[in-house]
Amino acid sequence: MTPRPVIVAPSLLACDFGRLAEEILKVEEAGADWLHVDVMDGHFVPNLTIGPVIVEAIRRSSRIPLDVHLMLDHPEQYVKPFLDAGAHYLTVHVEAPGLRGERMAHNALEAIRRAGAQAGLSLRPRTGAESLKPFLKELDLILVMTVEPGFGGQSFMAEGVPKVRRLREWFTGDIAVDGGINAETGRICLEAGANVLVAGTYIFRSPSYRDAIQSLRGSA
Ligand code: DX5
Ligand code: ZN
Repeated sequence: MTPRPVIVAPSLLACDFGRLAEEILKVEEAGADWLHVDVMDGHFVPNLTIGPVIVEAIRRSSRIPLDVHLMLDHPEQYVKPFLDAGAHYLTVHVEAPGLRGERMAHNALEAIRRAGAQAGLSLRPRTGAESLKPFLKELDLILVMTVEPGFGGQSFMAEGVPKVRRLREWFTGDIAVDGGINAETGRICLEAGANVLVAGTYIFRSPSYRDAIQSLRGSA
């Protein structure tokens, strides 16, 4: 198998929101491939972040694909608003209460693809890889959480690594890892079969966004 190019997706959660457009430009010029946007509702995770209005503003300030990660109890109610706001990739959580019963998750994924966007499913650290099996054909992206979702700046949970390896045996699309990713943990995940590295703190707390992004690609 030919090696896939590594996709680096800086998570804007760690950027300076007071200078959002500037941060986006800086990280794009530093070589970012996608922008990862974390949406939290205070229920699915104990934190609140941003809604479609800000995603739309991010869209207007950016030139690269928006990878929107919905950490919501009811993502099915927000698929359309986030697609309208300009999400290119829209990822929902398989554990979301609103997607319980396989039909609801199928419907959400179908709605994303029907709108011409890429559909993603994410799983928390304690959710097994098998939970994605019924959906593999409907997915463009799998987002493996390598921390408990909710906050940036946490330490990488190595339990995600065998899960990535397992999923790569079944799935040929994009596999992203999210949480505690730096040059070292990123490399471990790439070796296990991931091809998308989401990193917030590591990039935005670095003195050089370019060096941080290059080190994630393994070329520093
Ligand atoms: C956490 C979010 C992550 C977060 C990653 O719930 O899904 O995208 O921003 O941040 P770092 O890279 O700081 O762990
Ligand atoms: Zn995320």
